[in-house]
Amino acid sequence: MAPVQQAFVRRYAAYRRRVERYLRALVRTPVPASLYDPARYVLEGGGKRVRSVLLLAACRGVGGSTSDALPASAAIEVLHNFTLVHDDIMDHAATRRGRATVHRRWDENVAILAGDAMVALAYEALTRTPGLRVREAVRLFTEGLLVVCEGQAYDKEFEARRRVSLREYLQMIDRKTGRLIAVAAELGGILGGATTSQRRALRMYGSLVGRAFQIQDDVLDIMADEAEFGKRIGGDLVEGKKTYLLLRALERARGRDRSELLRVMRKERVRFSEASSFREIYRRTGALDDARRRIDRDIRTAQRALKALPASPDRDMLVWFADLIRVRTF
Ligand code: IPE
Ligand code: IPE
Ligand code: MG
Ligand code: MG
Ligand code: MG
Repeated sequence: MAPVQQAFVRRYAAYRRRVERYLRALVRTPVPASLYDPARYVLEGGGKRVRSVLLLAACRGVGGSTSDALPASAAIEVLHNFTLVHDDIMDHAATRRGRATVHRRWDENVAILAGDAMVALAYEALTRTPGLRVREAVRLFTEGLLVVCEGQAYDKEFEARRRVSLREYLQMIDRKTGRLIAVAAELGGILGGATTSQRRALRMYGSLVGRAFQIQDDVLDIMADEAEFGKRIGGDLVEGKKTYLLLRALERARGRDRSELLRVMRKERVRFSEASSFREIYRRTGALDDARRRIDRDIRTAQRALKALPASPDRDMLVWFADLIRVRTF
């Protein structure tokens, strides 16, 4: 690896360590075990910590100090982890990060309540933000949470719909995934004292990075190595999710390929064992290439937005991070 890249990896790891330490101190209470054990299980279960690292880098990138942003960065990570716990119930997912999901290891009631507690823990961390910017932070965070819920609602509504346009899909993922990453970047900016135009740039960066991140997640759902990805391959097909690949492939497929895709569109029964045959359809129709082109385009636009920030190692790290999305395998 080139030395510059190594420097980014090190910086990412250093930010991540600070977040991990903060997270470990957040859930200390032992009882009720049925509430705190699953919360700890989730928060200690790894994860890339993308949102919290971006928040810290954005803060530094506008000249702020990471200690001012650390509580908010932990808060965004806890909130993200909460969305995963409830998302896994909604998506009937049995594994995440290579382990049983909370509702499988315990049960749905435990997962619902642990998720609720995590929202409270996220706010608890957020309100530890020092200084006067806490009010603006809470406003942005709360609005973001509501938009994620909207995105998740569309995600589920689309399962039941036979037609969804690519535009509707993009609006849905901008909410369910893009918004939280946008909040992370913008919040980092706010806590670092960003100017209005820097704030706007960070929001745009986060939103587009989030969009690319979700399209890549759709790709990985069918293309990844299951052990590395940590989630079951083909889950989106089985659940009848309207993914980028599905909608794109449907625009082009004819004959038998088309009738196969329509089964997913109609949420007819699809088995995990059929994933490889859909993988071929996505290759044949060019949907996979389309997805990769779309990811590249959004990443480039995201990176351009960062020109509003002064040159710094953290700005460079944000650029580097965006490039990672297209090659990420988990
Ligand atoms: C998974 O998010 C959910 C999506 C928005 C695609 P991540 O891929 O960031 O999950 P972890 O936290 O690293 O496990
Ligand atoms: C995740 O979308 C969005 C949120 C958790 C808000 P997915 O349902 O695709 O995420 P994974 O694949 O389960 O991680
Ligand atoms: Mg989901
Ligand atoms: Mg899911
Ligand atoms: Mg997914």
